[in-house]
This record gives sequence, structure tokens and C-alpha cells, in this order.
Amino acid sequence: MNLPIPMRPHPSAADAPGDRRVGVGTAHAKAILFGEHAVVYGAPAIAVPLHQLEVETAIRPTPRAELRIESELFAGTASTAPELLRPVITAVRAALASVGSAGEHVQLRVRSAIPHGRGLGSSAAVAAAVARAAADLAGVELGPEEFHEIVQRAERVAHGNPSGIDARAVAAAGPIRFHRGRVSTTGVGAPLTFVLADSGAPGSTAEAVARVRERRTADPAGMDRAISQLSDLAEGSLLDLELGDRSALGARMLEAHELLGRLGVSTVKLDALVDAAHAAGAHGAKLTGGGLGGCVLALADSEDEAEHIALALRAAGAPRTWTTTVAAA
Ligand code: MEV
Repeated sequence: MNLPIPMRPHPSAADAPGDRRVGVGTAHAKAILFGEHAVVYGAPAIAVPLHQLEVETAIRPTPRAELRIESELFAGTASTAPELLRPVITAVRAALASVGSAGEHVQLRVRSAIPHGRGLGSSAAVAAAVARAAADLAGVELGPEEFHEIVQRAERVAHGNPSGIDARAVAAAGPIRFHRGRVSTTGVGAPLTFVLADSGAPGSTAEAVARVRERRTADPAGMDRAISQLSDLAEGSLLDLELGDRSALGARMLEAHELLGRLGVSTVKLDALVDAAHAAGAHGAKLTGGGLGGCVLALADSEDEAEHIALALRAAGAPRTWTTTVAAA
């Protein structure tokens, strides 16, 4: 899949004191529609882009000898940054090395509308935007695999053993099917309007993945059955997506949520939000991403219906909701 990487010309006296070069990059959030967790065990998964939740990064050369970061979460040097920033620092170093600027001292600014720890791919999106900004600064084009590897390096620091779906989904313009590292686009027969609801609790993907692993060790047959059912739901959803069959997709989402609960990654709050969305007329709803907190994704029949579902989700305790429409393609 070709990834659009922003390119702009740079002044030639680039390394002069008072260097005013800047490289910029953006990426967006993602929601996993089917197959989270099962994807870690080789099952296929489907993800959709959330274009309205975007991160923007800017990288500037600096005469200071240390990487400096400015973000809503932290401002200061890399050596004093909290653990949370380690994936970002990894992304900057990997990206500079990939574009041939390993020795360059830079400062990074991050502006993100993607909530952190909500299963929406915030860490992968920041890394993707950093890779694009570094390429922009150096005036080079990163190949799709080089780009992917930078994001995966950051993701390994964030989550340990990421399947790679987040890294692909935050850079893809439309819905994707991800299977064993390979990505393809999916057909969408009718516009699909989703409501995302924040449960208000952060969820650690690393913790959730570890929990599933532990359960699988304790009950291999039961967990493998659930993983295989999640795999079938993801694979079967491709035809529903192609036909734009919201009702069939919604039924699959409810089933997937139930199975994710069996894997141990749902919470009382996530279950309550799924029920509230369904009672308010959503075709279906499920947790999305790692779970153990984070967000619920609900499928509405229309944008008007989505407003009604969002209100119901807020009344059920979601501190914030977002509505997004995946265009027919
Ligand atoms: C996280 O967005 C998705 C998980 O399946 C982890 C992964 O695929 O690396 C939970």
C-alpha cells in the first residue's frame, strides 16, 4: 500500500546557524472493527480510519545537543521525559536514522487530538506523524516498509509485541483488512456511521494483551475457540462491508464484544456502554482496541441516529463521544 508522505523543498543553507527548517507530518486515529486480540494470534482483523482525530508533528533542527519534546503530556528533554514518552523518543531516533539524519539534534512538537490510552492508536499515530515529519525535514521519501518499521519500533516499546495492525491503520486512508502482516483495502457498499464513546478509563494495550496470553495458557482450548470465532467474524464481515449491510455488521459487533469479554478484556463500564448503544438503536456495538478501558464503537443507521446514540452513551456515563462516517468505496 502506498503511503502519502508529505514532501516540501528546503532551503539549501540548511545547516547554517539560525536554521529555520521544519519538517511536518500528520497521522490519524484508528478503530478496530473486528479482530483485536485475535490478530495477535494470526487471525485477520478489520480497522477503519478516524480522520477527524489527528496528530500533527513538527521537527526542527536545534543547536542544543539533546532531543527536546514539546507536547500536551510533557515539555523538556528526552532524558527527563516520563516512561510514557519512550515510544515517541524511539520513533524520533528511528526516523532520523532512516532518513540519514541520525546525528541531527532536533526538537519535536506534538499536537494531538487523539486521546491517549483509549484504544484509538494514539502511540502509533504519533510515531507515524514523526516518521513523516523526519522525512519532510530531510527532503526524502520513505518507502512504505521503512515507514512501517519506524512505527513498529515505537509500538514495540509501547506494547511489547504488536501485531502491526495499528501501525498500518493509522496511515491508511480507508478501511483495511490486516492478516499476518499483510494489508489490503476493503470494499464498503454504503456509508457507515460510527459513534465512539470513551469509557472514561484508560486501557493499557500491553496489559490487555498479557491478560489474554495468561488466559490462553490457563485454558488453551476455550481461548482458541473464542479466537477462532473472532477470526470468522472478521472474515465474514468483509462481505457485509462490501454489501453495506449494517444490520449484519451490527450483529457481528455484538457477538465480537461478547467474545472479547470471554477473553477477559471487557469491563463493567464497556458492557454498559454497549448495552446503552444497542438500546438506543445502534445496529451493534463493541469495545475497540485493547479494552480494559478505552472506547466502545457503535454502528448507527444514519448520522441522525448517531446523534441520538451519542446522547444515550453520554447519559450512560461516557465523558465524550465522537461520530465518524466511513464513506462508501
Ligand atoms: C490494539 O489496538 C490491538 C491489539 O490486537 C494488539 C495488537 O494487535 O498489537 C489488542
